Amino acid sequence: MDWGMKNRLSRLIQSDGHCMFLPIDHGYFQGPTRMLEKPGETIQPLIPYADGLFVTRGILRSCVDPANSPPLILRMSGGSSVIGKDLAHEALTTSIQEAIRLNVAAVGMSIFVGSEYEYDSLVNLGKLVNECEDNGIPVMAVTAVGKELEKRTARYLALSCRIAAELGARIVKTYYCEDGFEKVTTGCPVPVVIAGGPKCETELEVFDFVYDGIQKGAIGVNLGRNVWQSPHPLSMMRALNSVIHDNNNPKQALDLFETVKREQ
Ligand code: 5RP
Repeated sequence: MDWGMKNRLSRLIQSDGHCMFLPIDHGYFQGPTRMLEKPGETIQPLIPYADGLFVTRGILRSCVDPANSPPLILRMSGGSSVIGKDLAHEALTTSIQEAIRLNVAAVGMSIFVGSEYEYDSLVNLGKLVNECEDNGIPVMAVTAVGKELEKRTARYLALSCRIAAELGARIVKTYYCEDGFEKVTTGCPVPVVIAGGPKCETELEVFDFVYDGIQKGAIGVNLGRNVWQSPHPLSMMRALNSVIHDNNNPKQALDLFETVKREQ
């Protein structure tokens, strides 16, 4: 692997082999998502605990301090909205020159396996990988399902992750599933990070699925709403960080969550 590629990956994936990414890219199809109306304010206390920030170029330029930023994963795809016809209809909306100009550690784009736009998103992934490999920039593929959340079975996720890796993604971000998640990670030859999905009812539920996902082979998370839509985002961030980097179990994470909450 080339020096630049290795350097960028090691900015994101820590020396313990794990990572905690904080995504704030939701506005690119959802508009001003709850608690992300002012992304700069939302992330300010969380930045010290984030190994990477998944962000669009617009929010990066307007809300992230270039002098105080964790490593960046730039979202490269978009083109549809929650009120549009089909969330799967995305294209590349940013250029490799922009990724270089913004000094990002990686780029990310969604693929929509099994959708009407499967072919377009997979060909776009291949094109992005071609350009990024030439420049030593890792591509993180996001196995997206649009509004069809019921698609998130081990069989579907394993298929999508493997295809993303075959096309050259260096990291794959996918959903956790309770049954058979180990099939997803073992079938994917590149590191897998867990995406969050809609906010869970309790903190323990989040710690449970992250802990289980890590035991089953994920190297970390890319978790947004379950962190910054929590009434105690810093406590969530610290507790999740302890699951990912200190191997805390869900009960220990909950204890830490309560401790940090009391201290604030
Ligand atoms: C949106 C994304 C987000 O990064 C991803 O969904 C993670 O955020 P959350 O934990 O809130 O689901 O790629 O397309």
